[in-house]
Amino acid sequence: MKTILVTGSSGLIGSEVCSYFAREMGYAVHGVDNNQRAVFFGEQGDTRWNQKRLEHDLTGFAHHELDVRDRAGIIDLAARLRPSVIVHCAAQPSHDRAAAIPFDDFDTNAVGTLNLLEAARRACPESPFIHMSTNKVYGDAPNLIPLRELETRWDYADPAFEHGIPESFTIDQSKHSLFGASKVASDVMVQEYGRYFDMPTCCLRGGCLTGPNHSGVELHGFLSYLVKCNVEGRPYTVFGYKGKQVRDNIHALDVARFIAAFAAAPRRGEVYNLGGGKPNSCSILEAFALTEAMTGKPQIYSYVDQNRAGDHICYYSDLRKMRRHYPGWDITKSLSHTIREIVDAWEHARANV
Ligand SMILES: NC(=O)c1ccc[n+]([C@@H]2O[C@H](COP(=O)([O-])OP(=O)(O)OC[C@H]3O[C@@H](n4cnc5c(N)ncnc54)[C@H](O)[C@@H]3O)[C@@H](O)[C@H]2O)c1
Repeated sequence: MKTILVTGSSGLIGSEVCSYFAREMGYAVHGVDNNQRAVFFGEQGDTRWNQKRLEHDLTGFAHHELDVRDRAGIIDLAARLRPSVIVHCAAQPSHDRAAAIPFDDFDTNAVGTLNLLEAARRACPESPFIHMSTNKVYGDAPNLIPLRELETRWDYADPAFEHGIPESFTIDQSKHSLFGASKVASDVMVQEYGRYFDMPTCCLRGGCLTGPNHSGVELHGFLSYLVKCNVEGRPYTVFGYKGKQVRDNIHALDVARFIAAFAAAPRRGEVYNLGGGKPNSCSILEAFALTEAMTGKPQIYSYVDQNRAGDHICYYSDLRKMRRHYPGWDITKSLSHTIREIVDAWEHARANV
Protein backbone atom coordinates (compact mmCIF):
# COMPACT_ATOMS: atom_id res chain seq x y z
CA MET A 1 0.00 0.00 0.00
CA LYS A 2 1.30 3.45 -0.87
CA THR A 3 1.87 5.89 1.97
CA ILE A 4 1.48 9.65 2.05
CA LEU A 5 2.82 11.99 4.73
CA VAL A 6 0.81 15.19 5.11
CA THR A 7 1.86 17.99 7.46
CA GLY A 8 -0.77 20.42 8.71
CA SER A 9 -3.22 17.54 8.30
CA SER A 10 -5.89 19.06 10.54
CA GLY A 11 -5.99 22.29 8.52
CA LEU A 12 -8.01 23.19 5.43
CA ILE A 13 -5.70 21.86 2.73
CA GLY A 14 -4.00 19.12 4.72
CA SER A 15 -7.31 17.53 5.70
CA GLU A 16 -8.61 17.65 2.13
CA VAL A 17 -5.42 16.01 0.87
CA CYS A 18 -5.72 13.28 3.53
CA SER A 19 -9.32 12.56 2.53
CA TYR A 20 -8.60 12.60 -1.19
CA PHE A 21 -5.58 10.28 -1.05
CA ALA A 22 -7.31 7.88 1.37
CA ARG A 23 -10.68 7.73 -0.39
CA GLU A 24 -9.90 8.24 -4.06
CA MET A 25 -6.44 6.69 -4.23
CA GLY A 26 -6.34 4.10 -1.46
CA TYR A 27 -3.27 5.48 0.30
CA ALA A 28 -2.33 4.88 3.92
CA VAL A 29 -2.30 8.43 5.30
CA HIS A 30 -0.01 9.80 8.02
CA GLY A 31 -0.92 13.25 9.27
CA VAL A 32 1.36 15.56 11.26
CA ASP A 33 -0.30 18.39 13.22
CA ASN A 34 0.02 19.80 16.72
CA ASN A 35 -2.99 22.16 16.58
CA GLN A 36 -0.61 25.10 16.37
CA ARG A 37 -3.38 27.05 14.60
CA ALA A 38 -5.09 27.39 18.01
CA VAL A 39 -1.84 28.85 19.40
CA PHE A 40 -1.57 31.30 16.48
CA PHE A 41 -5.24 32.40 16.45
CA GLY A 42 -6.83 31.30 19.74
CA GLU A 43 -9.84 29.06 20.25
CA GLN A 44 -11.52 30.02 16.98
CA GLY A 45 -8.55 28.63 15.06
CA ASP A 46 -8.66 25.27 16.84
CA THR A 47 -8.44 22.39 14.34
CA ARG A 48 -8.90 19.43 16.71
CA TRP A 49 -12.45 18.91 15.37
CA ASN A 50 -10.97 18.28 11.93
CA GLN A 51 -8.35 15.86 13.29
CA LYS A 52 -11.15 13.91 15.02
CA ARG A 53 -13.19 13.93 11.81
CA LEU A 54 -10.29 12.38 9.87
CA GLU A 55 -9.64 9.80 12.60
CA HIS A 56 -13.32 8.87 12.57
CA ASP A 57 -13.93 8.93 8.80
CA LEU A 58 -10.75 7.58 7.23
CA THR A 59 -9.61 4.02 7.60
CA GLY A 60 -5.84 3.83 7.58
CA PHE A 61 -5.36 7.37 8.92
CA ALA A 62 -2.68 7.82 11.58
CA HIS A 63 -2.29 11.13 13.41
CA HIS A 64 1.17 12.18 14.65
CA GLU A 65 1.21 14.90 17.30
CA LEU A 66 4.42 16.47 16.09
CA ASP A 67 5.74 19.99 15.50
CA VAL A 68 7.46 20.54 12.14
CA ARG A 69 10.05 22.57 14.06
CA ASP A 70 11.08 19.36 15.85
CA ARG A 71 13.92 18.50 13.49
CA ALA A 72 14.87 15.16 15.05
CA GLY A 73 11.21 14.11 15.27
CA ILE A 74 10.52 14.93 11.61
CA ILE A 75 13.69 13.21 10.37
CA ASP A 76 12.84 10.14 12.46
CA LEU A 77 9.22 9.98 11.22
CA ALA A 78 10.23 10.23 7.54
CA ALA A 79 12.89 7.54 8.07
CA ARG A 80 10.34 5.20 9.63
CA LEU A 81 7.58 5.78 7.04
CA ARG A 82 9.60 6.36 3.86
CA PRO A 83 6.41 7.81 2.32
CA SER A 84 5.73 7.63 -1.42
CA VAL A 85 4.44 11.23 -1.40
CA ILE A 86 4.98 14.18 0.97
CA VAL A 87 2.59 17.13 1.06
CA HIS A 88 3.65 20.02 3.25
CA CYS A 89 0.72 22.14 4.46
CA ALA A 90 1.76 23.03 8.03
CA ALA A 91 2.42 26.75 8.36
CA GLN A 92 1.90 29.97 10.19
CA PRO A 93 -0.46 31.12 7.42
CA SER A 94 -1.30 34.72 8.30
CA HIS A 95 0.13 37.78 6.64
CA ASP A 96 -0.94 40.01 9.56
CA ARG A 97 -0.13 37.69 12.48
CA ALA A 98 3.52 37.20 11.50
CA ALA A 99 4.73 40.63 12.65
CA ALA A 100 3.74 39.84 16.25
CA ILE A 101 5.45 36.41 16.25
CA PRO A 102 8.45 36.70 13.89
CA PHE A 103 10.44 33.80 15.38
CA ASP A 104 7.46 31.42 15.46
CA ASP A 105 6.60 32.45 11.90
CA PHE A 106 10.08 31.95 10.45
CA ASP A 107 10.85 28.82 12.48
CA THR A 108 7.61 27.21 11.32
CA ASN A 109 7.51 28.36 7.71
CA ALA A 110 11.15 28.45 6.69
CA VAL A 111 12.98 26.15 9.13
CA GLY A 112 10.08 23.67 9.38
CA THR A 113 10.13 23.33 5.58
CA LEU A 114 13.90 22.80 5.59
CA ASN A 115 13.48 20.10 8.26
CA LEU A 116 10.98 18.28 6.08
CA LEU A 117 13.00 18.68 2.87
CA GLU A 118 16.13 17.29 4.48
CA ALA A 119 14.13 14.47 6.08
CA ALA A 120 12.76 13.64 2.61
CA ARG A 121 16.19 13.78 0.97
CA ARG A 122 17.57 11.31 3.51
CA ALA A 123 14.59 8.92 3.58
CA CYS A 124 12.84 9.04 0.21
CA PRO A 125 14.48 11.41 -2.33
CA GLU A 126 12.46 9.95 -5.22
CA SER A 127 9.09 10.68 -3.58
CA PRO A 128 7.20 13.71 -4.91
CA PHE A 129 7.39 16.60 -2.43
CA ILE A 130 4.60 19.17 -2.75
CA HIS A 131 4.92 22.40 -0.81
CA MET A 132 2.08 24.83 -0.19
CA SER A 133 3.55 28.23 -0.94
CA THR A 134 1.60 31.46 -1.35
CA ASN A 135 1.01 34.37 -3.73
CA LYS A 136 2.47 36.57 -0.97
CA VAL A 137 5.91 35.55 -2.31
CA TYR A 138 5.22 38.24 -4.95
CA GLY A 139 5.01 40.80 -2.15
CA ASP A 140 3.00 43.87 -3.04
CA ALA A 141 4.59 44.07 -6.52
CA PRO A 142 1.24 43.14 -8.17
CA ASN A 143 -0.02 46.52 -6.85
CA LEU A 144 2.31 48.26 -9.33
CA ILE A 145 0.30 46.92 -12.28
CA PRO A 146 -1.95 49.70 -13.62
CA LEU A 147 -5.54 49.10 -12.51
CA ARG A 148 -8.96 50.19 -13.58
CA GLU A 149 -11.73 50.77 -11.09
CA LEU A 150 -15.02 49.07 -11.90
CA GLU A 151 -18.27 49.45 -10.01
CA THR A 152 -17.63 46.63 -7.55
CA ARG A 153 -13.98 45.64 -8.12
CA TRP A 154 -10.51 46.57 -9.27
CA ASP A 155 -9.10 44.89 -12.37
CA TYR A 156 -5.82 44.95 -14.29
CA ALA A 157 -5.71 47.66 -16.93
CA ASP A 158 -2.61 46.14 -18.53
CA PRO A 159 -3.62 43.47 -21.12
CA ALA A 160 -0.39 41.57 -20.33
CA PHE A 161 -2.20 40.38 -17.19
CA GLU A 162 -5.60 39.59 -18.67
CA HIS A 163 -5.13 35.93 -17.63
CA GLY A 164 -3.75 36.89 -14.21
CA ILE A 165 -0.34 36.77 -12.54
CA PRO A 166 2.10 34.25 -14.07
CA GLU A 167 4.86 32.35 -12.25
CA SER A 168 7.51 34.52 -13.95
CA PHE A 169 6.35 37.57 -11.94
CA THR A 170 9.09 39.09 -9.74
CA ILE A 171 9.35 37.97 -6.12
CA ASP A 172 12.03 40.56 -5.42
CA GLN A 173 12.22 44.13 -4.13
CA SER A 174 8.73 44.59 -2.79
CA LYS A 175 6.98 44.54 0.60
CA HIS A 176 5.99 41.00 1.53
CA SER A 177 5.05 41.06 5.25
CA LEU A 178 7.21 38.84 7.45
CA PHE A 179 4.93 35.94 6.49
CA GLY A 180 5.59 36.52 2.78
CA ALA A 181 9.33 36.66 3.46
CA SER A 182 9.37 33.40 5.45
CA LYS A 183 7.36 31.78 2.66
CA VAL A 184 9.84 33.08 0.04
CA ALA A 185 12.61 31.37 2.02
CA SER A 186 10.75 28.05 2.02
CA ASP A 187 9.64 28.40 -1.62
CA VAL A 188 13.20 28.99 -2.84
CA MET A 189 14.50 26.14 -0.66
CA VAL A 190 11.92 23.72 -2.13
CA GLN A 191 12.96 24.78 -5.64
CA GLU A 192 16.61 24.34 -4.67
CA TYR A 193 16.13 20.78 -3.40
CA GLY A 194 14.51 20.09 -6.76
CA ARG A 195 17.35 21.57 -8.82
CA TYR A 196 20.39 20.92 -6.61
CA PHE A 197 19.45 17.41 -5.43
CA ASP A 198 17.29 16.55 -8.45
CA MET A 199 14.28 15.82 -6.28
CA PRO A 200 10.67 15.89 -7.58
CA THR A 201 9.56 19.02 -5.71
CA CYS A 202 7.05 21.73 -6.45
CA CYS A 203 5.74 24.92 -4.86
CA LEU A 204 2.07 25.78 -5.17
CA ARG A 205 1.72 29.53 -4.79
CA GLY A 206 -1.82 29.73 -3.51
CA GLY A 207 -4.30 32.52 -4.01
CA CYS A 208 -7.28 32.13 -1.65
CA LEU A 209 -7.69 28.46 -0.84
CA THR A 210 -11.03 27.79 0.73
CA GLY A 211 -13.80 25.34 1.52
CA PRO A 212 -16.12 24.15 4.26
CA ASN A 213 -13.33 22.69 6.41
CA HIS A 214 -11.57 25.98 7.09
CA SER A 215 -11.48 27.22 10.69
CA GLY A 216 -11.70 30.77 9.32
CA VAL A 217 -10.60 33.66 11.54
CA GLU A 218 -10.30 37.39 10.89
CA LEU A 219 -6.57 37.10 10.23
CA HIS A 220 -6.72 34.09 7.92
CA GLY A 221 -9.31 32.42 5.68
CA PHE A 222 -11.14 35.42 4.24
CA LEU A 223 -14.11 33.74 2.56
CA SER A 224 -14.73 31.26 5.38
CA TYR A 225 -14.60 34.08 7.93
CA LEU A 226 -16.75 36.43 5.83
CA VAL A 227 -19.47 33.78 5.44
CA LYS A 228 -19.26 32.93 9.15
CA CYS A 229 -19.85 36.60 10.01
CA ASN A 230 -22.88 36.69 7.72
CA VAL A 231 -24.39 33.47 9.10
CA GLU A 232 -23.83 34.55 12.71
CA GLY A 233 -24.89 38.18 12.12
CA ARG A 234 -21.49 39.49 13.26
CA PRO A 235 -19.84 42.61 11.86
CA TYR A 236 -17.08 42.10 9.28
CA THR A 237 -14.34 44.72 8.94
CA VAL A 238 -13.21 45.75 5.46
CA PHE A 239 -9.66 47.10 5.39
CA GLY A 240 -9.16 49.71 2.66
CA TYR A 241 -9.29 49.64 -1.16
CA LYS A 242 -13.05 50.49 -0.96
CA GLY A 243 -13.84 46.79 -0.45
CA LYS A 244 -13.10 46.30 -4.14
CA GLN A 245 -9.93 44.25 -3.57
CA VAL A 246 -10.00 41.09 -5.67
CA ARG A 247 -9.08 37.55 -4.60
CA ASP A 248 -9.22 34.36 -6.64
CA ASN A 249 -10.74 31.48 -4.76
CA ILE A 250 -10.12 27.80 -5.23
CA HIS A 251 -11.89 24.98 -3.42
CA ALA A 252 -9.57 22.74 -1.37
CA LEU A 253 -10.77 19.72 -3.37
CA ASP A 254 -9.39 21.20 -6.59
CA VAL A 255 -6.10 21.83 -4.76
CA ALA A 256 -5.99 18.18 -3.66
CA ARG A 257 -6.76 17.07 -7.22
CA PHE A 258 -3.83 19.08 -8.56
CA ILE A 259 -1.52 17.66 -5.89
CA ALA A 260 -2.57 14.15 -6.97
CA ALA A 261 -1.88 15.03 -10.62
CA PHE A 262 1.60 16.32 -9.77
CA ALA A 263 2.35 13.26 -7.58
CA ALA A 264 1.38 10.96 -10.47
CA ALA A 265 3.68 12.71 -12.96
CA PRO A 266 6.14 14.82 -10.95
CA ARG A 267 8.59 17.37 -12.34
CA ARG A 268 11.67 18.84 -10.61
CA GLY A 269 11.80 22.16 -8.78
CA GLU A 270 8.56 23.44 -10.32
CA VAL A 271 6.45 26.42 -9.35
CA TYR A 272 2.73 26.91 -10.04
CA ASN A 273 0.31 29.70 -9.27
CA LEU A 274 -2.69 27.92 -7.85
CA GLY A 275 -5.92 29.83 -7.42
CA GLY A 276 -9.39 30.02 -8.80
CA GLY A 277 -8.31 32.15 -11.76
CA LYS A 278 -10.33 35.08 -13.04
CA PRO A 279 -13.68 33.22 -13.31
CA ASN A 280 -13.53 32.31 -9.60
CA SER A 281 -12.37 35.72 -8.43
CA CYS A 282 -14.43 38.20 -6.45
CA SER A 283 -14.04 41.43 -4.55
CA ILE A 284 -15.11 41.67 -0.93
CA LEU A 285 -18.21 43.63 -1.98
CA GLU A 286 -19.05 40.90 -4.51
CA ALA A 287 -18.49 38.19 -1.88
CA PHE A 288 -20.96 40.02 0.39
CA ALA A 289 -23.58 40.04 -2.37
CA LEU A 290 -23.07 36.35 -3.24
CA THR A 291 -23.33 35.32 0.41
CA GLU A 292 -26.35 37.52 1.10
CA ALA A 293 -28.13 35.98 -1.89
CA MET A 294 -27.60 32.51 -0.40
CA THR A 295 -28.40 33.17 3.24
CA GLY A 296 -30.99 35.91 2.79
CA LYS A 297 -29.22 37.81 5.59
CA PRO A 298 -27.64 41.25 5.19
CA GLN A 299 -23.88 41.41 5.68
CA ILE A 300 -23.12 43.76 8.56
CA TYR A 301 -19.78 45.44 8.05
CA SER A 302 -17.67 48.45 8.89
CA TYR A 303 -15.02 50.09 6.75
CA VAL A 304 -11.54 51.08 7.91
CA ASP A 305 -9.83 53.39 5.43
CA GLN A 306 -6.45 51.71 5.91
CA ASN A 307 -5.45 48.66 3.92
CA ARG A 308 -3.56 45.78 5.50
CA ALA A 309 0.21 46.21 5.11
CA GLY A 310 1.38 44.74 1.80
CA ASP A 311 -2.16 43.59 0.88
CA HIS A 312 -2.91 42.97 -2.80
CA ILE A 313 -5.40 45.33 -4.45
CA CYS A 314 -6.14 42.89 -7.25
CA TYR A 315 -4.79 39.37 -7.53
CA TYR A 316 -5.85 36.46 -9.63
CA SER A 317 -3.69 33.56 -10.76
CA ASP A 318 -2.76 32.75 -14.33
CA LEU A 319 -3.59 29.03 -14.44
CA ARG A 320 -2.25 28.38 -17.93
CA LYS A 321 1.00 26.73 -16.82
CA MET A 322 -0.88 24.28 -14.58
CA ARG A 323 -3.25 23.40 -17.40
CA ARG A 324 -0.39 23.05 -19.89
CA HIS A 325 1.63 20.71 -17.66
CA TYR A 326 -1.40 18.78 -16.35
CA PRO A 327 -4.12 18.91 -19.03
CA GLY A 328 -6.25 16.38 -17.11
CA TRP A 329 -6.64 18.87 -14.26
CA ASP A 330 -9.01 21.83 -14.16
CA ILE A 331 -11.19 23.74 -11.71
CA THR A 332 -14.33 21.71 -10.94
CA LYS A 333 -15.96 23.86 -8.23
CA SER A 334 -17.30 27.26 -9.15
CA LEU A 335 -17.15 30.16 -6.71
CA SER A 336 -20.90 30.08 -6.04
CA HIS A 337 -20.78 26.32 -5.44
CA THR A 338 -17.93 26.83 -2.97
CA ILE A 339 -19.73 29.62 -1.13
CA ARG A 340 -22.82 27.39 -0.94
CA GLU A 341 -20.77 24.67 0.77
CA ILE A 342 -19.23 27.15 3.22
CA VAL A 343 -22.67 28.59 4.07
CA ASP A 344 -24.03 25.09 4.68
CA ALA A 345 -21.07 24.20 6.91
CA TRP A 346 -21.38 27.32 9.11
CA GLU A 347 -25.19 26.96 9.31
CA HIS A 348 -24.73 23.34 10.35
CA ALA A 349 -22.12 24.33 12.97
CA ARG A 350 -24.45 27.05 14.30
CA ALA A 351 -27.38 24.65 14.53
CA ASN A 352 -25.23 22.21 16.54
CA VAL A 353 -23.87 24.65 19.13
N1 LIG B 1 -5.86 29.12 2.93
C1 LIG B 1 -5.34 29.99 2.08
O1 LIG B 1 -6.04 30.87 1.62
C2 LIG B 1 -3.91 29.87 1.65
C3 LIG B 1 -3.47 30.74 0.64
C4 LIG B 1 -2.16 30.64 0.20
C5 LIG B 1 -1.32 29.70 0.75
N2 LIG B 1 -1.77 28.88 1.74
C6 LIG B 1 -0.81 27.92 2.33
O2 LIG B 1 -1.36 26.62 2.30
C7 LIG B 1 -0.93 25.90 3.46
C8 LIG B 1 -2.14 25.36 4.18
O3 LIG B 1 -3.01 26.43 4.51
P1 LIG B 1 -4.36 26.17 5.28
O4 LIG B 1 -5.31 27.23 4.87
O5 LIG B 1 -4.74 24.75 5.17
O6 LIG B 1 -3.88 26.49 6.78
P2 LIG B 1 -4.50 25.97 8.14
O7 LIG B 1 -4.05 26.93 9.17
O8 LIG B 1 -5.95 25.67 7.98
O9 LIG B 1 -3.73 24.59 8.35
C9 LIG B 1 -2.40 24.51 8.75
C10 LIG B 1 -2.30 23.43 9.82
O10 LIG B 1 -0.92 23.32 10.18
C11 LIG B 1 -0.83 23.14 11.57
N3 LIG B 1 0.47 23.65 12.01
C12 LIG B 1 0.87 24.95 12.07
N4 LIG B 1 2.10 25.02 12.54
C13 LIG B 1 2.51 23.76 12.80
C14 LIG B 1 3.70 23.20 13.31
N5 LIG B 1 4.73 23.99 13.68
N6 LIG B 1 3.79 21.85 13.40
C15 LIG B 1 2.76 21.05 13.03
N7 LIG B 1 1.59 21.53 12.57
C16 LIG B 1 1.46 22.87 12.45
C17 LIG B 1 -2.01 23.94 12.14
O11 LIG B 1 -2.40 23.46 13.43
C18 LIG B 1 -3.08 23.73 11.08
O12 LIG B 1 -3.94 22.64 11.41
C19 LIG B 1 -0.08 26.88 4.27
O13 LIG B 1 1.27 26.70 3.93
C20 LIG B 1 -0.54 28.23 3.78
O14 LIG B 1 0.46 29.23 3.92
C21 LIG B 1 -3.04 28.94 2.20
